[in-house]
Amino acid sequence: MQFGYFDDLRREYVITDPRTPMPWANYLGSPAYGAIVTQNAGGYSFVKSGAAGRILRYTFNQFDEPGRYVYLRDEADGDFWSASWRPVEKDLKDFHTVTRHGTAYTSIQADYRDIHSEVLYYVPLNTDHEVWCVRVTNQGRTERKIGVFGYCEFTTESFYTQDLVNMQYTQFITVTEFHKDHILQRINQFCDLNADGENGRERFFGMTGNPVVSYTGRRERFLGVHRFHEPQGVLDGKLDNTVNFNGNPCGALHTVLTLAPGESRTIAFVLGQKGEKAAEALLARYADPEAVVSAEWKTLCDYWHGKLDHLHIETPDHDLNTMVNTWNAFQCFTTFVWSRAASLIYAGERNGYGYRDTVQDIQGIIHLDPQMAKERLCFMLSAQVHHGAGLPLVKFDHNPGHEDTPEQDSYVRSTGHPAYRADDAMWLFPTVYKYIAETGDLAFLDEVIPFADYDEGTVIEHLKRSIDFTMHHLGFHGLPAGLHADWNDCLVLGASGESSFVAFQFYMAMRQLEELLEGREEYAEYRSWLKESAADILRKINEFFWEDDRFLRGYTQEGAVIGSKHDPEAAMWLNPQSWSVISGGATRDQAEKSMQSVYDILNTPNGIELLAPTYKKHYFEGARMRLFNPTTKENGGIFCQSQGWAILAEALLGHGNRAFQYFKESCPAAYNERAEIREVEPYVHSQFIEGHETPQPGRAHVHWLTGTASTVMVGMVEGILGLRPTPNGLRISPSIPAEWDGFTMDKYFRGKNLHITVDNKAHHESGVQSVLINGKAADSMILTDDMLSDGDQITIVM
Ligand code: GLC
Repeated sequence: MQFGYFDDLRREYVITDPRTPMPWANYLGSPAYGAIVTQNAGGYSFVKSGAAGRILRYTFNQFDEPGRYVYLRDEADGDFWSASWRPVEKDLKDFHTVTRHGTAYTSIQADYRDIHSEVLYYVPLNTDHEVWCVRVTNQGRTERKIGVFGYCEFTTESFYTQDLVNMQYTQFITVTEFHKDHILQRINQFCDLNADGENGRERFFGMTGNPVVSYTGRRERFLGVHRFHEPQGVLDGKLDNTVNFNGNPCGALHTVLTLAPGESRTIAFVLGQKGEKAAEALLARYADPEAVVSAEWKTLCDYWHGKLDHLHIETPDHDLNTMVNTWNAFQCFTTFVWSRAASLIYAGERNGYGYRDTVQDIQGIIHLDPQMAKERLCFMLSAQVHHGAGLPLVKFDHNPGHEDTPEQDSYVRSTGHPAYRADDAMWLFPTVYKYIAETGDLAFLDEVIPFADYDEGTVIEHLKRSIDFTMHHLGFHGLPAGLHADWNDCLVLGASGESSFVAFQFYMAMRQLEELLEGREEYAEYRSWLKESAADILRKINEFFWEDDRFLRGYTQEGAVIGSKHDPEAAMWLNPQSWSVISGGATRDQAEKSMQSVYDILNTPNGIELLAPTYKKHYFEGARMRLFNPTTKENGGIFCQSQGWAILAEALLGHGNRAFQYFKESCPAAYNERAEIREVEPYVHSQFIEGHETPQPGRAHVHWLTGTASTVMVGMVEGILGLRPTPNGLRISPSIPAEWDGFTMDKYFRGKNLHITVDNKAHHESGVQSVLINGKAADSMILTDDMLSDGDQITIVM
């Protein structure tokens, strides 16, 4: 089944049937103010934190409500509808609606009885308020009087769980007031007041463009005994001009538009966390909404499209194009901005940045906005403890140099993280490497950055300490210990159990650091040590982790093997195989065999399962994935993040056909016409897909905020498209389906726009025969800065 299509020119996903199997959402805003909106106007808003800064209520796991509702009512006969299909749910035979999810805006159009409406939801760039711009057009031949009602449901206070569960307190701390063009909500109205008589907890919901005719600030009066599909206030055609005192606050404002045939009128609802004066000033700015909104919307589009334009591809495959050019890219920015804090699945309780997640997320945007990536990378380096480990959770208000750590009870109590994980700081290596390779900014290595608890050091020093941390945490065989978790949150290997995943990461880390220090005399000795240590780790990997056609997953605390082909359960694991290739640790023979085993044992039509057979009876204590149903999440589900690494690994091996097959299997866009399989949005990745042992293989879960965004992005860009920068310059080495004749890429690289044409008339899967710059053969495969000029035409002949 199909519910919509990709409008690539406008970078929008267009939902034509609102009855999607799950709410299909979009993200608006910035770290200062975030909002989630679905095609039925469901969703919520928050200031900085989904859990601690919640201003709009949302009932998770229910009916995708409440939301940002706009109701329209024909004054002549009282017939009413909503500007989105829900909540009123008019018969779709008479009511036509289209939702356009774009880059940080969503527009919902509806047509009903000759009235066309269009609501544009967005958060203006660099602001902390949101706008719902409503344009209503009379497409009939007679004059119409249309009542317009805007409704939002405020939380009683900013802590989302308090609003939900601590009603004996929260219902009695808040009131609403009406002022000319807005409802103002106050919380703890006599406490902590500043000179203006306010305490910064005020929220407002205002309307501009036409006078308010009636209002209510009290949810029960808006709804009456009904629900959102039939609110009393809209039934009555007029709100009762009451405010809230003890109970549930809301913002509801009503106006009436008289529309001549063909006439359009525009009003705007504006909402945010601001006191009376600030709200008044802001609303004054929107007095003539039409002009302000179109300017703000253009600025917003220019901002996002400007970033996304830094890589534009045209390949024979539409799904790859739309994911690389728009949707996977926008999802990468979204995970970068909101980490795992706020979606329709994450309620925002994870009040900070997960270390590994965030360092991985950075990788997804480096090729589009290296400066933004660098800022976050510095932040994450400053969340590394002096001994080299990463803080498992970096608080949103992280204070470098002054943080407590898992060694202290205070940290454990405030974050719930009792111990270090083996992989966290290991992610710094590929991320620092990618940043430097993209920009050529080798000087970054010498920038001084504080550690989380105390002390400071250059980026090199930070990386060295991360190596030290792993060196000080080796298990039985002298291979990296798995500690509280490695990448897999469900794998607890402790101080003596060992992880092959981290071993490969460690091997790669040492090689990458060694490469970055090339030519630096002062590190000559350290570089030799790195080389020897890497060789030593690789020897041990081969001795203790390799088994005929696969790499093992590790050893338990008791020294038992995990992931041997002789094991009754979890005999084959995906990540050690892909990482053996990505890290450069596997020999060609090992790489071919282990990746073939992945294909033979783990692959399904919807992606590669994380392990097989699933854990049911033969698990060890640290195998916590047994908590999950079979082929679900870490218990052998198709964990989409790992699919990205498999794409990359196959591409690095030059297996273009297989890399592309893996891309398609789990590509959201590839399911656009079969959306009932994945159920979630066909324009963004989800955390995992159900595998073969569930009643609905292929169903995807945990939308938007997932590490999948960045790994699949890297798999597509570096892997398939073959854009593989090094500190010295750009290497282009595609791994594509042999049937492609070629493709083009417009890439912004180190200040220059490059137009790249890949010629594959020879129909190879990989391998570059020659590189031409403006028609002339290049001297090397790596395009260094001095070889490139802005506007160059690069031809890659495969
Ligand atoms: C989730 C976590 C991530 C972890 C992965 C595998 O995606 O956010 O940190 O690596 O699960 O357990």
